[in-house]
Amino acid sequence: MKQNLGVDGDRLWRSLMELAEIGATEKGGVCRLALTDLDRQARDLFVRWCREAGCTVAVDPVGNIFARRPGRNDDLPPVIAGSHLDSQPTGGKFDGAYGVMAALEVIRTLNDQSIATEAPVEIVAWTNEEGSRFSPAMVGSGVYAGVFTLDEALQKKDIDGKSMGDELRRIGYAGREELSRRAVGAYFEAHIEQGPILEAEKKTIGVVTGAQGQRWYEITVTGQEAHAGPTPMPRRRDALVGAARMIEAAHQIGLHHAPDACATVGFMQVSPNSRNTIPGRVFFTVDFRHPDDERLSEMDHDLKDAFQWIARKAKLDLDIREFWYFPPTPFDDACVAAVRDTATRLGYAHRDIVSGAGHDAVYMARVAPTAMIFVPCKDGISHNEIEDARPDDITAGANVLLHAVLDRAKPI
Ligand code: GLV
Ligand code: MN
Ligand code: MN
Repeated sequence: MKQNLGVDGDRLWRSLMELAEIGATEKGGVCRLALTDLDRQARDLFVRWCREAGCTVAVDPVGNIFARRPGRNDDLPPVIAGSHLDSQPTGGKFDGAYGVMAALEVIRTLNDQSIATEAPVEIVAWTNEEGSRFSPAMVGSGVYAGVFTLDEALQKKDIDGKSMGDELRRIGYAGREELSRRAVGAYFEAHIEQGPILEAEKKTIGVVTGAQGQRWYEITVTGQEAHAGPTPMPRRRDALVGAARMIEAAHQIGLHHAPDACATVGFMQVSPNSRNTIPGRVFFTVDFRHPDDERLSEMDHDLKDAFQWIARKAKLDLDIREFWYFPPTPFDDACVAAVRDTATRLGYAHRDIVSGAGHDAVYMARVAPTAMIFVPCKDGISHNEIEDARPDDITAGANVLLHAVLDRAKPI
């Protein structure tokens, strides 16, 4: 295959920017929560572009969209590339959208150059990767990979009690295509790094060797509601004071297991949330991450010890629900090597890197040879409306994706 074969970087950038208009926020970001009307608009645009690129489009019952460019031997397992179109509430233009648009650009480039492949090539847009509106994250790819059952996924509810199943039907993306356990030739996902390493080291490509493990918890602290005035301090069972101490403890656990641990409390509900009533109940979430499973388990023990001790001291009831877990996930050696070799061949400065974020690739790695390609993002900031990336890097990542896909799909 021609070494100088490359994607049309301007077209890729224009598509990304057009997509980012759907759910655009004033600060230049995107709010496109899973299965909202805005998600539907993004899906519709993506499907239109795929059809214009000659692909046939199939939607599975959890709303994952697969756009297929046939292979010469169409019975071969497809080589799939993609990511997600949903965003965080204060998300950016690139998280997820880049991987989907880069895969579309790969197919547009193959069309422009009249390159046929032995194996079919597919673009995928996974449902609810972010885990923000419906938790946990990576639900569409999780169903596809058999980690969640379809029923379990469809019953997931948002904060207003709306279910994924109802919302999928409402936006017209509850597909009928069988979620067959078909073989997949390889899965590649291009993504912004979402951290500072590539930019700091002036590397264009991150060769992602795997993703760190995660443990998510749902914590309910129960005390007693009482009047803010007449209730003496020693008599109080203030659930929010207990939760505050637990949040600090979670943060300390993250620091204690430095430098690789991450600990985040990002969601909290206080009840009854009234200025002059002592809070009787607090619900919050904890997100723990570590690239080493043993350390992640130590963090788990530390959390339980600390939270139970805090609850006992403050005479509070405590419920710790282990909501979600996946272990550190290494990617496929041969696919990772294909990404690394391609980056070298194309002359891009690169380094191996472990993903701090969760990605659909983590679940795909359970059912297919998988790898990811990272490109730098400005100041390492993501899950923020100011998330930004350089067009040259965006193009470089798509070029690596193109050659990695061809390596597996075999140009004729
Ligand atoms: C996905 O965005 C994650 O939380 O890693
Ligand atoms: Mn993402
Ligand atoms: Mn994200």
